[in-house]
Amino acid sequence: MVIKGSVAVITGGASGIGETVARRLSAEGASVVLGDMNQEGLDRVVADIRKAGGKAAGKVLNVTDDASTAAFMDFAIAEFGAINIVAPCAGIIRDAMFVSPDKETGKIKRSMSTADFRAVIDVNLVGPFITMREAAVRMVDNGWKGVLFTISSIQKEGGVGQLNYSSTKAAMALWPKILVGEFQMKGITGIRVVSIAPGYVGTPMVKGMDQGALAKIVSGVHLGRLIEPEEIADTMAWVVTNDAVNATCIEVTGGMISGLIAK
Ligand SMILES: NC(=O)c1ccc[n+]([C@@H]2O[C@H](COP(=O)([O-])OP(=O)(O)OC[C@H]3O[C@@H](n4cnc5c(N)ncnc54)[C@H](O)[C@@H]3O)[C@@H](O)[C@H]2O)c1
Repeated sequence: MVIKGSVAVITGGASGIGETVARRLSAEGASVVLGDMNQEGLDRVVADIRKAGGKAAGKVLNVTDDASTAAFMDFAIAEFGAINIVAPCAGIIRDAMFVSPDKETGKIKRSMSTADFRAVIDVNLVGPFITMREAAVRMVDNGWKGVLFTISSIQKEGGVGQLNYSSTKAAMALWPKILVGEFQMKGITGIRVVSIAPGYVGTPMVKGMDQGALAKIVSGVHLGRLIEPEEIADTMAWVVTNDAVNATCIEVTGGMISGLIAK
């Protein structure tokens, strides 16, 4: 598959990984359609891409909403005539311990709220489900070939303090095999599904973390620094152009070894 001339729909396109993927695919000649809750961010990224000579359009989108997501896909088709690359990059974190006892009394002082559990499931799990389904229906109906991405995370292995987030990211790593298996059974050829599992990437999501905790995490990364969003975009661009990469999850972490104790 070639990037030039293809159409990419990118959720979470107003920030971080989504924004960077949009810039990269556009630089290689794709038309990019960005969806996000953040209108201001969308306007900024779309204007930048157009200024650089790229083809871009943006639409406010709530990935947890069926109608909003269907309208986003129809908008992409109306703008650029197809859908080939689907990058569901919208995501949130709401970290908390499952239960936290008080140091003195040993009694539970706090626990993860149902609202925080549900919010992350809704955006990070239900969101990609709706995004990928609404895109896939249109791709199959029109015979458009391409790649559906899922965005997993190294936390697919179990992030302490991230019961909600890790649950969604484990699912994202699993979906390529399920979906490609179903495509194979149903004779749907030409649509691959690939998951990308980043380590800690220097985006607003991570830069907003507790800096002490972040420094500790980075000390356990073999590369010794945060991953750049461009390094994730680079991997995704390579996946698009390599038809043999399919039904798999690719880690891009700089070398994070679970259970490693940094010196
Ligand atoms: N940054 C990292 O280290 C890292 C690591 C692994 C995986 N990821 C994943 O990559 C994806 C992007 O993360 P990021 O670091 O770029 O985050 P980010 O916060 O920079 O960007 C996320 C974007 O999603 C948008 N968004 C949130 N809820 C939405 C909704 N309901 N509908 C539409 N848009 C919504 C936000 O407005 C924001 O623009 C997420 O799925 C995240 O879990 C990030």
